Amino acid sequence: MLVLGIESSCDETAAAVVRDGNDILSSVISSQIEMHKPWGGVVPELASREHLEKIQPIVAEAISEARIALSDIDAIAVTQGPGLIGSLLVGVCYAKTLAYSLGIPIVGVNHIEGHVYSVIFENPPVEYPALALIVSGGHTNIFNVPEKRKYTVVSRTRDDAAGEAFDKVAKMLGLGYPGGPIIERLAKDGDSSRIKFPRAKISDGRSDLSFSGLKTAVARYVREQGIAPVETNAVPNQAIKDLAASFQAAVVGSLMGTLEKLANELRPKTLIVAGGVACNLALREAAQTAADRLRLPVYFPSKHLSTDNAAMIAAAGFAHLENGERSGLEMTADITMRLQNFENDDDELRKRKVRYRL
Ligand code: KG4
Ligand code: ZN
Repeated sequence: MLVLGIESSCDETAAAVVRDGNDILSSVISSQIEMHKPWGGVVPELASREHLEKIQPIVAEAISEARIALSDIDAIAVTQGPGLIGSLLVGVCYAKTLAYSLGIPIVGVNHIEGHVYSVIFENPPVEYPALALIVSGGHTNIFNVPEKRKYTVVSRTRDDAAGEAFDKVAKMLGLGYPGGPIIERLAKDGDSSRIKFPRAKISDGRSDLSFSGLKTAVARYVREQGIAPVETNAVPNQAIKDLAASFQAAVVGSLMGTLEKLANELRPKTLIVAGGVACNLALREAAQTAADRLRLPVYFPSKHLSTDNAAMIAAAGFAHLENGERSGLEMTADITMRLQNFENDDDELRKRKVRYRL
């Protein structure tokens, strides 16, 4: 079965053709990073306009790179949510129109489930139950995946996503956008034991995560030490490199501490670490070390499949299509779409206090 995947939830317009859920015939990504750079983050209105211009040529490129005709496509999988409303609507409307005109089925895909499926292409088959850490600019969650297509959130961030923390700290230090890769590069030459940043301890005993306290601790440190933001084109000094390394170690430490604790409790057969922040080598090494300790395999997507792409959407879509699921043409973008098959107690959780300790 040939599935055309379409992704437009944030700042990448992407299309891919995937055969039988795990064979990538083409994967085309048009990134808007350069356009948003001057603003230090994604500007939603600019993003949707750019998607509108790019969607048709990107889909055409994916079809031609796959060396197929549009009429060879058997089904379309499109990111339905979560994401930016204007951006999502461009992909969803385009996909519905194309599916209708070709007379083929369409399925709406949860973007986060797409990240879970990003490991399917370059690793052995996932054995269930699996424990999946999905860590990106918009999301930071750990899912228990007892079986294919079933998810329970077992840890979530109570505030910022981990990638968002990388981006905000980089902005604070005048380092540019997106912050993750820049901080990782600087951290390589820094001393990660130089500054001890706090790790959030959630006082209600849940295995949740929190990164806004860490961000505040970095801001306080910068103020107290009189660290000036790096001027454009200037070479960052050692204090900035040590700060980058110490901050990165705190993020990696809290993600891995939580993942390992949950793995010990839930005893999965496979660990999955995916999403944009999974590009980070320090995170990968820490996950590999934790997995070795747990005697479990850990699967990562390669770099180009870690950040947003449409191949992962096609793969997740295929799993649902294979199960007989279809979306009707009334399907629309869902900005707060959840990936959870069981009731959750989000609202109650939000009311609880987060306590930080060093
Ligand atoms: O998955 P993604 O492309 O988009 C979202 O769905 O959010 O993730 C983008 C995020 C950004 O916050 C970026 O700073 C972060 O992933 N990121 C990294 C690295 N590469 C990208 N964070 C840490 N280290 C990296 N090497
Ligand atoms: Zn993403």
